[in-house]
Amino acid sequence: MKCKRFMLGILGCVVLVSGIFSTVQAKEYDHEVKNKKISFFWKVQGDIIAIKVTAETKGWVGIGFNPSKKMKDANFVLGYVKNGKVEIRDDFGKSKTSHKPDSKLGGTSDVVLTGGTEKGGITTIEFTFPLKSGDKYDSEINANGDNIVLLAYGSGRDGFTARHKFRTALRVNLATGDFKILK
Ligand code: HEM
Repeated sequence: MKCKRFMLGILGCVVLVSGIFSTVQAKEYDHEVKNKKISFFWKVQGDIIAIKVTAETKGWVGIGFNPSKKMKDANFVLGYVKNGKVEIRDDFGKSKTSHKPDSKLGGTSDVVLTGGTEKGGITTIEFTFPLKSGDKYDSEINANGDNIVLLAYGSGRDGFTARHKFRTALRVNLATGDFKILK
C-alpha cells in the first residue's frame, strides 16, 4: 500500500514537473512577427537575443539585421535541417545581393544553436546571438528600439546557396514588439 502511494507520489511529481516545463517552453519567446509564411520569435536576455525563425519550407530559413542597402552589411543567420540535423551559419551581407560566412571573411561565427526541426514541410531554427558580438561582420542588434529585420526562406532544397523563394524587410522594435512591413 505504502509502495503504491509512493509510486503515485512520484507519478504526480513527474506530471507536475512536465506541466511546468511545457508552460515554460510555451512562453520561451516574448514577441512574434509574422509575414505570410514566415515568423520570427524573440526574447532579449541581458546581452543576448534568443531567436526562433520558422517558415513553410523544407529548405533554408534566415534572418538578417540592419543592412545598409538591400542585403548589404546585414548580420545574417541562416539554417536548414537535413536528416534531422540542423546546419546553421553566421553570415554577413557582402553586397546588395550576396552574403558570406563571417568566418570566411576573417570574422567569427557568433551564433549558438539551440534547436531546430523540419516537420510537415515547416522548418524551424532556434539560436542565440550576442546583441553586440564585437565582430566587424555583425551589425549591432538594438534591443531597445527599432531595427531593420530581413526574413527569408529558400525553396525545398537543403543548403545555403539557393536563392529565396520569399523575402521581406520589416522595421521591428525589439523592446515593444511593434513592427511595420516595409517590403
Ligand atoms: C541564400 C542565398 C541568397 C541569395 C542568392 C540572395 C540573392 C538576392 C538577390 C539577387 C537579391 C536582389 C534581387 C531581389 O530583390 O530578389 C536579393 C534581395 C534581397 N534578399 Fe537575398 N539572397 C540570399 C539570402 C537572403 C537571406 C538569408 C535573406 C534574409 C534573411 C535575404 C533577404 C533579402 C531581401 C529582404 C532582399 C530585398 C532587399 C531590398 O529590395 O531592399 N536574402 N537577394
